[in-house]
Amino acid sequence: MIDVKAPKLTVVGAGPGDLDLITLKAIKALEKADVVLYDALVNEELLQYVTNAEIVFVGKRLGCHAYTQDQINELIVSMANRFGHVVRLKGGDPFIFGRGSEEIEYAEQFGLETEIVPGISSALGVPASVGISLTQRQISDSFWVITGTTSNHELSKDVYLASKSNATVVILMGMHKLDQIISIYKENRTDDLPVAIIQNGTKNTEQKVVGTISTIEKLVAEHKISSPAIIVIGEVVKSNSRLTSYFQEHFDDEFIFQNLNLE
Ligand SMILES: C[S@@+](CC[C@H](N)C(=O)[O-])C[C@H]1O[C@@H](n2cnc3c(N)ncnc32)[C@H](O)[C@@H]1O
Repeated sequence: MIDVKAPKLTVVGAGPGDLDLITLKAIKALEKADVVLYDALVNEELLQYVTNAEIVFVGKRLGCHAYTQDQINELIVSMANRFGHVVRLKGGDPFIFGRGSEEIEYAEQFGLETEIVPGISSALGVPASVGISLTQRQISDSFWVITGTTSNHELSKDVYLASKSNATVVILMGMHKLDQIISIYKENRTDDLPVAIIQNGTKNTEQKVVGTISTIEKLVAEHKISSPAIIVIGEVVKSNSRLTSYFQEHFDDEFIFQNLNLE
């Protein structure tokens, strides 16, 4: 008799990129998977934890066929009905701009059992890894995490609202709209507000630049920083000792004095 496994979907967060920033629960799910569908932001070295499963890349990458979200949803259901346990491995946390909830909802319509394994989102893990504390007593009481690119391909209007607050602002998918973000901040805040941009955070390809609203675009161009990157705006950016040594390594005293008032 053929052993037909119950169809199941586990949506799993892979963390921001560093191999060690995945959870034990996620590793256990990979070990038990019959099929793994993974995205472009996932560190492929994590696939070493897959013991006996069909592995399918469904992300967007130059030279690869990009699956639409509808195709991925259908693939999840058909693979689960055929093989059993599908693990959907996604960069960061699946519910932070990850469409994890849409995949869960779709699978449940077809009667699949579902489970969610949270991951460390780049929005939190990347700033922390370079020493930026998103909240800090007497400096920042809160933070916003905003998309730079909504489903209409526009900059989220929340950036306007956030720029008028004292909150730390973390923008994902914002590199193509950096000029718009900077002009909003120029209108609503001061030019010397600190900004950090970190590309490929926590990976060995990580690159970062730190400057201010008035200097950051030039720094991005000079250091050729591009996606995937997060943009962190707020006073907390300059108040950490790790970045102080980063400034000292990369910029001359005059730049530091003029832009960040760091000794
Ligand atoms: C579709 S969103 C997915 C976010 C993901 N679910 C998370 O929680 O990190 C993709 C965006 O996340 C950000 N991102 C993801 N991983 C990153 C990393 N390691 N370093 C910098 N930014 C990252 C970039 O802004 C990228 O364009």
